[in-house]
Amino acid sequence: MPSRIDIASRARKRSRDLAAQHSQPSPQPSSGRKVIEFRGVSKLYAGDVGLDHATFSIERGEFVFLVGSTGSGKSTVMRLLIKELEPTSGVIRVAGHDLADIGRRRVPYFRRNIGVVFQDFKLLPNRTVYDNVAYALQVTGGTRKEIRAKVPDILRLTGLSTKLHNFPHQLSGGEQQRVSVARAFVNHPPLLLADEPTGNLDPETSIDIMRLLYRINRTGTTVLVATHDQAMVDKMRRRVLELAEGRIVRDEAAGLYTRDETTRDLARRLRAPSGRPPGLE
Ligand SMILES: Nc1ncnc2c1ncn2[C@@H]1O[C@H](COP(=O)(O)OP(=O)(O)OP(=O)(O)O)[C@@H](O)[C@H]1O
Ligand SMILES: [Mg+2]
Repeated sequence: MPSRIDIASRARKRSRDLAAQHSQPSPQPSSGRKVIEFRGVSKLYAGDVGLDHATFSIERGEFVFLVGSTGSGKSTVMRLLIKELEPTSGVIRVAGHDLADIGRRRVPYFRRNIGVVFQDFKLLPNRTVYDNVAYALQVTGGTRKEIRAKVPDILRLTGLSTKLHNFPHQLSGGEQQRVSVARAFVNHPPLLLADEPTGNLDPETSIDIMRLLYRINRTGTTVLVATHDQAMVDKMRRRVLELAEGRIVRDEAAGLYTRDETTRDLARRLRAPSGRPPGLE
């Protein structure tokens, strides 16, 4: 198993020139490279089942949707993955490391390898776009030089270069979510989790955010997205894991058009009524 550091440095290497990579083929997951592994994981809350013997794994470079009705356990999976919760039983591994072996003091270091995006953005209201993103680097020990180099890059990638002095309340919902994606990805983590990232956005803005997550995935980062947006899931044609009452009830492989699709082609396809590329409708 590669170490976390191996994976982080590999993902960083791949991410070095994001713009140049957009037109290149997507890295495919290689066999035996599990980034996420759940083995018989259960989570019991007081009086409620969060997860019930869930077993699944996700390989490096995959883009996976986690679906299921409200209360089915999607957020529980996300919170277990960042060690915000502990499982009642079962084993969770991230990049080969058993999370049970990571002590409280090491959790902040562990979390540097995982970017997280939430439905409600969770931006700092009194800080500008630039500072919201810079703050994410500061708290993980980034130097001033690093911040000056990385923040403009990520703001360019996320289409926010003209908004860097704006405060969150001066942005649209889609722009605010872009800031939270920028913040989650500024460290180029090997794993990005998004819990209902488009839950508060209109369909057109949701496509922009999905396109951005796909662009990030094409740099080699593994992406797991929990969502209720069935239409988006159908159109994206990526792997789908479905939960029902805490159990994995479906694990569907990626469909057509998933290989080597450019972000532009993906966006065109998402905007087409049938989800097929224009010309094939
Ligand atoms: N802190 C908690 N205390 C008690 N029960 C909880 C807690 N958090 C979640 N649950 C319960 O665990 C189950 C799974 O919740 P979870 O938040 O993971 O679902 P979800 O799939 O994310 O739902 P949604 O689509 O509404 O976000 C639900 O029955 C929920 O009520
Ligand atoms: Mg949830």
